[in-house]
Amino acid sequence: MRVAMIGTGYVGLVSGACFADFGHVVTCVDKDQGKIESLEQNIIPIFEPGLDDLVATNARDGRLKFAIDGAEAIRTADAVFIAVGTPSRRGDGHADLSYVYAAAEEIADLIEGFTVIVTKSTVPVGTGDEIERIIRERRPDADFAVVSNPEFLREGAAIDDFKRPDRVVVGTDSERARLVMAELYRPLNLNETPMLYTGRRTSELIKYAANAFLAMKITFINEMADLCETVGADVQQVARGIGLDNRIGSKFLHAGPGYGGSCFPKDTLALVRTATDAGSPVRLIETTVAVNEARKKAMADRVVKALGGTVVGKTVGVLGLTFKPNTDDMRDAPSLDIIPALQAAGAIIKAFDPEGMDEAAKLLSNVEYCKGPYDAVTGADVVCILTEWDQFRALDLDRIKLLMTAPIMVDLRNVYKDAYMRARGFVYTSIGRPDEA
Ligand code: UDX
Repeated sequence: MRVAMIGTGYVGLVSGACFADFGHVVTCVDKDQGKIESLEQNIIPIFEPGLDDLVATNARDGRLKFAIDGAEAIRTADAVFIAVGTPSRRGDGHADLSYVYAAAEEIADLIEGFTVIVTKSTVPVGTGDEIERIIRERRPDADFAVVSNPEFLREGAAIDDFKRPDRVVVGTDSERARLVMAELYRPLNLNETPMLYTGRRTSELIKYAANAFLAMKITFINEMADLCETVGADVQQVARGIGLDNRIGSKFLHAGPGYGGSCFPKDTLALVRTATDAGSPVRLIETTVAVNEARKKAMADRVVKALGGTVVGKTVGVLGLTFKPNTDDMRDAPSLDIIPALQAAGAIIKAFDPEGMDEAAKLLSNVEYCKGPYDAVTGADVVCILTEWDQFRALDLDRIKLLMTAPIMVDLRNVYKDAYMRARGFVYTSIGRPDEA
């Protein structure tokens, strides 16, 4: 099959490279000339484990190409994927669909023969209808079908999520489009991946419902963590105790500083707006959004408390800045709330993150960015773990103790355990776990 992928952001690039690896001929199209030139030299603009090799191999074998002008690729494509950004619109939280509709107009002018136009971008219910209308208006003669095919890729594990998904959702009522989509994903038959065919609106909603549910699950366990702290229970055991019930499931029950990233904050907000506009409010998700925002802001208080009530003139050594490990993505990372709050309270910030510091430097000012974890804790009055990068799991704690002015750790990801840290002479606080006797 011939595929044109419009947009070489996270989703477009991973999906394009994976479809090429399935054996299809893929052209990734982007208006950003610098980005395309870099990709042609195998320079990947994002950090995603395995993606550089996948791009290099498939480009070398001629299955993966890059282009600024997508005309040729779109004209000859069996399927054109729209994988452009849908950021939150300033002011009202709705998804900004201007890039999606601009792509639809471009596609309309170019397609030849039966073409399946697929939204990979996360788009609100009804967007497929509007894309269809735009194309039909510009090209009454065109032979096409618009399909919704949402992605469920986690950053840091995106290639595995693409190649071994729990399910693939395809929203269309066109039989011909369905056959094209089945052919595109045929290699997944080997893993017996369920293919779920639905109506287009249903498919569009599935994506939002999945993200909202996961965000709600995290927020639920975060509130349980607060309750655990108050009543003297252990949130990790609560999570295990409920997660072993198959109806609940054990994933996404890890308490922390609140969810961040490129999807959950944006998609929960967009779902709330869509539902409100439709006159069918989603109150659980409204509350999830509000509770998570408040949580991220409140996390700084834990550091203040650990230092006895004030951080004025104190140095905080921050380990981890990205919203989760194995990414350089800083979008809506809890660090973006916690660090400014600490600075406003008078703290001096030193920080280290294995991949996120370039991006962080654009968003956070007055931070001393350090070469490694030990640098970041040198002279610190407290060390705060904000992201659970693997390299923070085996820190040389004796060395850290010597480098700090006092051995105090605030662990917002529950990387360590209280008894273990106390045995090593640390004053330790974490999330939702009482002090062990
Ligand atoms: C998410 C979805 O998982 C994916 O299916 C969707 O397509 C895009 O959004 P991603 O944003 O890459 O993926 O990260 P994810 O691993 O889901 O984590 C999101 C946030 O939730 C992170 O800030 C993470 O730290 C937090 N989280 C996750 C928790 O606090 N606890 C958990 O148990 C799981």
